[in-house]
Amino acid sequence: MADPVIYGDGSTDYEKYIRTQELYRLQKGPKEWANEEELLFQSIHQAMELWLKVVIQHLEQSVAWVKADKLRDATRFIKRTASMIEFLGDSLKFPMSIAPWDYHKIRMGLGKGSGQESPGFNKLLDSPEKLWEAYAATLKRHKKTIDEVHQDPHGLPDLFELTIAMSELDQELMHWRYRHFQLVKRIIGDAVMSLKGIPASALEKNGNMAFFPEIWAVINRTTNAYNQKYRPQGGGAY
Ligand code: HEM
Repeated sequence: MADPVIYGDGSTDYEKYIRTQELYRLQKGPKEWANEEELLFQSIHQAMELWLKVVIQHLEQSVAWVKADKLRDATRFIKRTASMIEFLGDSLKFPMSIAPWDYHKIRMGLGKGSGQESPGFNKLLDSPEKLWEAYAATLKRHKKTIDEVHQDPHGLPDLFELTIAMSELDQELMHWRYRHFQLVKRIIGDAVMSLKGIPASALEKNGNMAFFPEIWAVINRTTNAYNQKYRPQGGGAY
């Protein structure tokens, strides 16, 4: 990298631990910036890759805890993971204000590179399936169905809270994708081809794709089960 911006001399214990010198060198220097927006663009992607590493480590730990029946520990980590993804979605507001014309100058330097090639994001997409498998095995071990868990949230609080944490995670993953699609619409539009040659609007359908469809489905069944039991005339109020 030509002339990266470097603060400090790397000599303090803090700089050694954080490895600030190496960190600064991982970024383009001002002479390489396509314009004054590129530092933000590179930083937000680099930061996301680091955060995704933390997210994936948390989800792997959660899977191990679910398998070991340490459901409260898993719930705490899954909730935290959902917050991290929400935080990553919040940070998308910064590039929202890049002028589309200025983004195109940065885009020229990306080749065919796209977020779709993010190793962290692609690894993250594998995690929910493993979590679901561990969760389903746990329900079996406890001889409970997901419907029973939903109909007895106070009697089965650990299983219920775990289920809710997983729905929060699913919600934030969908939310991130929705917000990213809004960003794409603001910066390049939704009726253009991406650098991979697919319509940018293809991103839209992913925003509604649930990783844990069973958890969303059981909420419908819970409403119907309640109505059947306590509102024999049906759920008119809904
Ligand atoms: C600044 C404006 C941005 C534009 C115009 C943009 C555009 C796109 C497009 C068109 C895609 C579809 C894949 C493809 O290229 O064919 C995509 C995917 C993706 N982008 Fe962006 N992006 C932007 C910013 C960001 C930022 C800031 C991040 C992360 C911090 C990011 C992460 C991703 C990821 C992870 C995917 C894959 C999404 C999925 O599979 O659902 N993008 N982006």
